[in-house]
Amino acid sequence: MGDVKIAPSILAADPLKLGEALKNVKGADMLHLDIMDGHFVPNISMGPAFVEACKRGSDLICETHLMVEKPERLLSGFIAAGSDIITLHVESTPHIYRGIQELKENNVGVGVSLNPGTPLSVLDSIWEEIDLLLLMTVNPGFGGQAFIPGMLEKIKEARYLIDSREKEIDLAVDGGVNAENVGEIVSAGARVIVAGSAIFGDNNGADWDLFRRKTLA
Ligand code: DX5
Ligand code: ZN
Repeated sequence: MGDVKIAPSILAADPLKLGEALKNVKGADMLHLDIMDGHFVPNISMGPAFVEACKRGSDLICETHLMVEKPERLLSGFIAAGSDIITLHVESTPHIYRGIQELKENNVGVGVSLNPGTPLSVLDSIWEEIDLLLLMTVNPGFGGQAFIPGMLEKIKEARYLIDSREKEIDLAVDGGVNAENVGEIVSAGARVIVAGSAIFGDNNGADWDLFRRKTLA
């Protein structure tokens, strides 16, 4: 089993105490930044200025998760803001490849995400381009939802498909992960754990070390 990385999802932090939240999760492997446009998902969050602020306020790798329609329209702003990885939803555009090309041209890591109802077979033509595969384990749009149990099989299948290729691809899961279910999620094959409310929910991330210890136990 490879190393497990943890990516706190700052969406769940107290918006009035974002600086504190960033300090609390120092030492995490990656920061997960959720961008929502009110169209692709029924919620609105932040934009490129927020990504830029997180880059300034933290040493962590920033993965920008774009839950927006036609993300290729907005990529340049999130690239300029300093995103290290940008994750695009295959459901959000007929031109996923255009977005992937733009990321590669700008040396930004390529993340691809699938909603719970989207089969892994949509990746058949683009596996070679992907650095990070983000499997949604809730319907995207909100933090604090319950993990969809059927996604465990999908994680296992994705693990199998990734292991059968030479390229290294990080397998990430996003939604409803907590200290209780993270063990079976990692056993299924996930190696990047995105967690929002489990890390920031109670005290803005002050107990983040506890979550990490439980996750890595
Ligand atoms: C949901 C977002 C998630 C969210 C996860 O659409 O993509 O990153 O912040 O939150 P939890 O861990 O609370 O499910
Ligand atoms: Zn996310």
